[in-house]
Amino acid sequence: MAFIRCDGERVTLVFALEQGGAADCVYCGARLPGGEDLAELAAAAARGRHENQPDLPPAPGVLPEAKGGWSGTPAVILRRGGLRVETDLRVSGWQAAPDSLDITFTDEALALTLSLEWRIAAGDVVEAHAVLVNRGAPDLELERLAALALPVPRRFAELTTFAGRWAGEMRQHRRALAPDGFARTSASGKPGFGGGNWLILHDGASEEVLAAHLAFSGDGDTRIECDMQGSGDGRAVLQLAAEQPHALGRFPQGAAAQTPRAVFALAPDRSALAQNLHAYLRAEVLPGRKAWGPRKVHLNSWEALGFDLSESGLAVLAESAAALGVERFVLDDGWFGAKGRGRRNDRTSLGDWFVSPDVFPRGLAPLIARVHALGMDFGLWVEPEMVSPDSDLYRAHADWCLHIEGRERPTMRGQLALDLSREAVRDHLFARLDALLGEHAIAYLKWDHNRDLFPSAPGQAEGFYALLDRLRAAHPHVEIESCSSGGGRIDFGVLARCTRVWPSDNNDAIERLRIMHAWSQFLPLEVLGSHVGPSPNPITGRRLAMDFRAKVAVFGHMGVEANPARMTERERETLAAHIALYKAWRGVLHAGRLHRLAHPDPNVTALLVLDEGKALALAAQTAFSPVFDAAPLRLAGLDPEARYRVTLPEPWPNKARHYLANPEAWRAGLILSGTALMTQGLALPLTHPETAWLVALERTS
Ligand code: GLA
Repeated sequence: MAFIRCDGERVTLVFALEQGGAADCVYCGARLPGGEDLAELAAAAARGRHENQPDLPPAPGVLPEAKGGWSGTPAVILRRGGLRVETDLRVSGWQAAPDSLDITFTDEALALTLSLEWRIAAGDVVEAHAVLVNRGAPDLELERLAALALPVPRRFAELTTFAGRWAGEMRQHRRALAPDGFARTSASGKPGFGGGNWLILHDGASEEVLAAHLAFSGDGDTRIECDMQGSGDGRAVLQLAAEQPHALGRFPQGAAAQTPRAVFALAPDRSALAQNLHAYLRAEVLPGRKAWGPRKVHLNSWEALGFDLSESGLAVLAESAAALGVERFVLDDGWFGAKGRGRRNDRTSLGDWFVSPDVFPRGLAPLIARVHALGMDFGLWVEPEMVSPDSDLYRAHADWCLHIEGRERPTMRGQLALDLSREAVRDHLFARLDALLGEHAIAYLKWDHNRDLFPSAPGQAEGFYALLDRLRAAHPHVEIESCSSGGGRIDFGVLARCTRVWPSDNNDAIERLRIMHAWSQFLPLEVLGSHVGPSPNPITGRRLAMDFRAKVAVFGHMGVEANPARMTERERETLAAHIALYKAWRGVLHAGRLHRLAHPDPNVTALLVLDEGKALALAAQTAFSPVFDAAPLRLAGLDPEARYRVTLPEPWPNKARHYLANPEAWRAGLILSGTALMTQGLALPLTHPETAWLVALERTS
């Protein structure tokens, strides 16, 4: 038995490898001291045999197979003529580096080679993927190939999953892991709102967490199978696999299949976990992240004008946006379509990516010029993967959509989906988008995806990536947002190609606060679109003060999703003041370490971002507090010995401001130590519903 350790900054993985046998991950946790005896470490964790298990207990390890009596889901499922072929993949070699391990397994009888590649990346995030090669077995079909199989350390006894719906993304559910484990398979051709590709395991006795995610924009299968029977060694096995690409695909001699990446990360608590994942995304995933400029304030036309578009109306909207300090004007749905048959509602014209002569008789250029003259850049909405049955594209190529020959073609939002596994479809879309970007000064695309993919769409996610990659290569300066009716396609796969996601269509600040808090567990604020919506909110009907809406929106990539003309003068002033605050603080918010601040009132959500001695915190109360004097807000992540000047950036919330004990002292700034701020905290008036405060800190010594 060989023992190999891989180390990150604060984590260690230890593998036990038996040449001709199994491979296991026998330690996964805090970084071990140098010189730890790995054989003794494994011996200390090994289980004795008990009476009700196979004589040679199966060792699923990092490659569970249906052999030797293990009853869980195999990491590899192959079939021949519809019948399962049992694999017997054994360790045949490995390559180790201080932070990575590639293990090769072979099944001599079936002439299969499988490589598992694990690497500890930036932020101590572990990346894993698998490559399976058929070296000579005839007639195989590949049904499943997991990217990751991780034996779960026994201390992780609870699980948080994230399931939601349109306009209500990422609701958390925490529960015990055993005895049932967890299984979730998406079937809409994208991660969707089910959240099955995000999960967090919790140590029952401390705050330690382990998060796992499949970096893939198609369907995924996430499962944790508990070994309650003890037929193996008692550990649960977590597996992440892409669903579609291999589903019953032919796997002929010489074929190779590669999974997308799965990632997992360990951290002492949920703030540290967010920081690790953000560090990883910033360093290794987000395209060209180091060269990003400040995240510009957007105004998006959707909630302001809907389909009621005209050049003059948009110019007026652009003027009101510029007056608020907006830096990018985004023209949403409704701008395209053939003459007389354009996109005047959501039942038509997807696929006809030509500037509508009905809406823009002079083309888009005059509007873009006006936007530029106002000091903003210009962005455009597209939904390239879709087609309306009522479109010139569909009339010309009815066979380009996902469909089953001879069956009905059911629509969703009045639309069908194009089959992006077909090269001709991708070429056509590339040509159209390339022309649009070539002909107009477009700085940003909001790339939407508003229909589930049915019938099932093997190769769709890969086709989407190929199209996006080709377009990005041709137009490297265009920023692209991934939107899918809000947060229906958010994952680390799409984020390797985009600079921003649209976390939800729901801009109601109370809902949005919860949604942003959930997403920011995994994603840094600079990629999370965060817009001030109208009041009343069109989805929830709720009315919220501009001060509250704007403060919540500062904690993300800020924008406006409303018509300034329908705001009062006072609201516009408040919004403009918060846009200015966002500009002053985005350098910190978009580079710093995010802390999830605890507060005893469950209706208070609080975050703090700290970067090089400067920090901004948001504390938002959504309900009416049961106590008059809300508990102080205790900060986190500060240097205990350092001193900070603390101010409450104005404007202050209208009602709560009257309950501030020392307004003048807050204006001048209180000087407090990190210890005082983290131990005693700040007495903020957080009693009234829909009240938010920003807290600014600057290190003075
Ligand atoms: C989706 C998006 C919205 C908007 C509309 C336009 O619902 O999530 O933000 O762009 O499409 O049709």
